[in-house]
This record gives sequence, C-alpha cells and structure tokens, in this order.
Amino acid sequence: MRILSGIQPSGKLHLGNYLGAIKQHIELQDKGESFYFIADYHALTSLRDKDALRENSFDVALDYLSLGLDPKVATFYRQSDLPQVTELAWFLSTVTPMGLLERCHSYKDKVAKGIAPDHGLFAYPVLMAADILIVDADIVPVGKDQKQHVEVTRDIAQRFNFIFGETLKVPEDRIMEDAGVVPGIDGQKMSKSYGNSIDIFLEGKELKDRVMSIVTDSAPVEEPKDPDTNNVYNLLKFFVPPDENEEWRQRFVKGGLKYVEAKKRLIAALDETFGAAREKRKELKSRPDFVRDVLREGAKKAGETATITLERVREAVGLGKLP
Ligand code: ADP
Ligand code: TRP
Repeated sequence: MRILSGIQPSGKLHLGNYLGAIKQHIELQDKGESFYFIADYHALTSLRDKDALRENSFDVALDYLSLGLDPKVATFYRQSDLPQVTELAWFLSTVTPMGLLERCHSYKDKVAKGIAPDHGLFAYPVLMAADILIVDADIVPVGKDQKQHVEVTRDIAQRFNFIFGETLKVPEDRIMEDAGVVPGIDGQKMSKSYGNSIDIFLEGKELKDRVMSIVTDSAPVEEPKDPDTNNVYNLLKFFVPPDENEEWRQRFVKGGLKYVEAKKRLIAALDETFGAAREKRKELKSRPDFVRDVLREGAKKAGETATITLERVREAVGLGKLP
C-alpha cells in the first residue's frame, strides 16, 4: 500500500497544521510505503518571494523531521526535485474538463475573496493529481479541505484510463481522522492568512505572550461557563489526556475558574507535547547538510518510481518509440 501526502511551504506551520495534517502523516508513515513531500510548486500559486520560499521549504523539512518523520521509513522530498510531476500534469491537463476545475471550492473561495485567478491557481488540482498519480499512490491522507481535490484526482485518472487504457492507479479517497477545526487565538479557524495562529515551534516568552492573548469573554469568574465556546478550552482539549480534559470541562461548568489558569496549563501542555521536537529541531538546524541529503535521497527514490509511471503514460498517449 502506498501512502502519499504533501504540505505547502507557504509559511510557518501552526497547531492547526499539526493536528489536522502533520501528526497523522507521521502516525501513518510506517503503515505502508509512504511518500511525503514539500509542495513548493503549489506554493508558487500564492508566494512570490524567492527567499521566503527557500526558507519556508527548509523550515517545513526541519519541522517534519523534528516532529518524527523518519527518513529511513518514509520517502521525503521536495516536489520541485521531481520534474516528472510537471510533465505528467500536462498529460493530465489534456483530459481534464474545464468544468471539473471550475467546480473546485478552494478555487471558487479564493476568487470570491477577490484574488485575481491565474492559470496556476486554476490548474492547482491538476498538479495535485500529478503528485498523487506519479507515485501510484493508493491512499492520500488529507484534511477535509483537500477532499475534493482527491476526488478530482480520481476523476482525472479514470478519464485518462478510459481514453488511453488502464495506465494510472486510481487512489482511494481516504480522509484523515477528523481533528475538527482547530481555532486560532481569536476563535476563528486557525490559519496563517488570518494572523491568528500559534506556531508549533513557538516557545518561551513568545509562546506565553501568544497564549495569553487568546481572546476570552469578560464574564465574572464565579459564573458557570460553556467550555465548548471557550477559545482556551478548545485548544487545551487537544493537548491534555482525556481524564484531565474531563476535569477542565467540569471546572468550566462549575464556575470559579480563572481563564489564566487554563492558559497556563495550555502553555505547559504545549511545552510537554513539543519539548523534545524543539530540541531536535535546534540540533537539525545546525546540520543543514543532513536535511539537504535527506531530501536529495528522497527525491532520488521517488524519482525512480516517477520515471516508471511517466514512461507508461508517454507510451499510452503515443509518445513512445516512433514507428
Ligand atoms: P492555512 O489555512 O494556515 O493556510 P493550509 O491550508 O496550508 O493552512 O493547511 C494545510 C493543512 O493543514 C490542511 O489541509 C488541513 O488539513 C490542516 N489545517 C490547517 N488549518 C487547520 C485548522 N485550523 N484546523 C485543522 N486542520 C487545519
Ligand atoms: N494542496 C495540499 C494542501 O494545501 C497540499 C498538496 C499538494 C497535496 N499536493 C498534494 C496533498 C498531493 C496531498 C496530495 O494542503
């Protein structure tokens, strides 16, 4: 069974990315032959700053490796080190109906927000299909927001196979265990574009300041509170054990709880969850050659699979040996 997923290097990774994607990628790494990559071609649809793109890509590599991605187990690479992906994307483009892309929520949402769409943004799902199909992935663990893109991938692969004969492996539509929406410090969905995120590797005073700025109401301390509408509880619940979680719920419901206590516990829980990863990250940062080697090796390995798939596709469409 082949597992594949990607993450865009479009900014610092936050707790929403961790709970909604990275944690599960890492848990799945040894459940099959896994491929994880840094989607830098995709990031170009929103990021046009070459230094930021290079730095973010390196940061994502450090983040994954320090959070537990084991390069001996998973194949980890930069998307742009596999040029086969862009070639496959062209073949797929020629069988992708415009209507299929016009229906994509993520594209429509961006247009609705006033972003002037370019071809890259429109064709984003085709490039994503190429990422998936180039390694014959069976399973693509993604968050809810990417589910439609995996469905588009299935449609494109089926259409290609219908036209040119069985060539591409149609991936299974597997949605990751739903972490739910992780709220940011203002209670909206945590997102780097809302400026409300808590970055995974924040620590010390910066982390404290960020957590202390989580928005809470000004109801009197003794008043009973609904934990489910509280921004601190809605983050804390992800990072404490179930029995402790239940205790916090009771404390909210009973009243008499000062929000600052829950905030302090959240800081400690984040320190416990990410303490070891922070140390590992510092260590890896001082060995950039190691990180570059991991990605180079990963690209070599993924590239071998990609070349085989691409040959099959070239053959299928009539770009094989001339008569
Ligand atoms: P952002 O909204 O910060 O730009 P991305 O869209 O790059 O984040 O997110 C990458 C993945 O991380 C998503 O596919 C989703 O699975 C997960 N993710 C991001 N934000 C959240 C969140 N607030 N709650 C749960 N999962 C999230
Ligand atoms: N679009 C995905 C995201 O923003 C990242 C991604 C690119 C991806 N290519 C992929 C995820 C292929 C899974 C499979 O989260």
